[in-house]
Amino acid sequence: MSSPIARPRHFASDNYAGICPEAWAAMAEANAIHEVSYGNDTWTQRAADLIREIFEKDCEVFFVFNGTSANSLALAAMCQSYHSVLCHELAHVETAECGAPEFFANGSKILLLQGANGKVDLADIQRAVNKRTDIHYPKPRVLCLTQATEVGTVYSVDEIKARTELARKLGLRVKMDGARFANAVASLNIAPKEITWQAGVDVLCFGGTKNGLAVGEAVVFFDRELAREFDYRCKQGGQLASKMRFLSAPWTGLLKDGAWLKHARHANAMAKRLETGLRGIPKVTIAYPVDSNAVFARMPADVEATMHESGWKFYTGVITGDESRLMCSWDTTTEDVDGFVADLRVLCAK
Ligand SMILES: Cc1ncc(COP(=O)(O)O)c(C=O)c1O
Repeated sequence: MSSPIARPRHFASDNYAGICPEAWAAMAEANAIHEVSYGNDTWTQRAADLIREIFEKDCEVFFVFNGTSANSLALAAMCQSYHSVLCHELAHVETAECGAPEFFANGSKILLLQGANGKVDLADIQRAVNKRTDIHYPKPRVLCLTQATEVGTVYSVDEIKARTELARKLGLRVKMDGARFANAVASLNIAPKEITWQAGVDVLCFGGTKNGLAVGEAVVFFDRELAREFDYRCKQGGQLASKMRFLSAPWTGLLKDGAWLKHARHANAMAKRLETGLRGIPKVTIAYPVDSNAVFARMPADVEATMHESGWKFYTGVITGDESRLMCSWDTTTEDVDGFVADLRVLCAK
């Protein structure tokens, strides 16, 4: 393997994938004629209605450009500047948003929780809240859960409920970072309401980008009161698209005939196949349960370097310690997976 091979698809991120056909077709349809701007168009109405249908709830829905803005603006809507947000130490809001949640919430502080497999530990929620109750401590206000987690695990319905019930007792509201919510729903094979509003989640950042959109996340308020004046927050935060239909129309393509779940199931299945292949290689170990579309693997450093040199792109040591994160997407093929495993097996045998 001396010169890198140009590969059509990679395992670095589900963001590397292109736009799924359903979203692409809806985008083309939305391009046919003029439409009203700033979200007052029929596509945006339809996309929001589809989200209400899927969640079986009359929720408030806003479309924004990316996950960082969805998370940040949602947290800003839930917090005063003197509040704090509790999240896992690996949470994207802490590790990968450049302080945007604190910035948009005017200084609300993020407090870090521990927990195995990327899931916040119940006792640690209690510890963080009860640690101090005096006026000098940033008042805990929101528990932020990531579903699927940053390490690809998925909270079960009971695991979500245990955390939201504790949060309620402690006076916290609950926000979910669902950048890979579709993968979690596909993994659990349940109705979306069962891991959101029925389980005590107040606000969901519903990810579209990693599921096959070009760009765009939906902020879904199950507690409509929390959405008060959120439209102004979006505008001020640079998240009110003038040509909003190009954010919302692709959502209709993704949601209307269940493509979102089809793509998520496929990505999850590819991750399972990858896990099975990797488990067959003696020098490779799997770091976390593979519940969704991510596989975290440990492999010898020289092997990892050679894989990169041969043209495979994936992250090592970015999300967690020294593990390699391998993400599958809606368009990952069995050939991609088997090719990766085959190359790794050859290198590990040397
Ligand atoms: C858990 C999680 N939340 C949110 C995001 C969204 O981030 P971005 O602002 O890059 O769209 C990501 C993207 O990697 C993510 O992994």
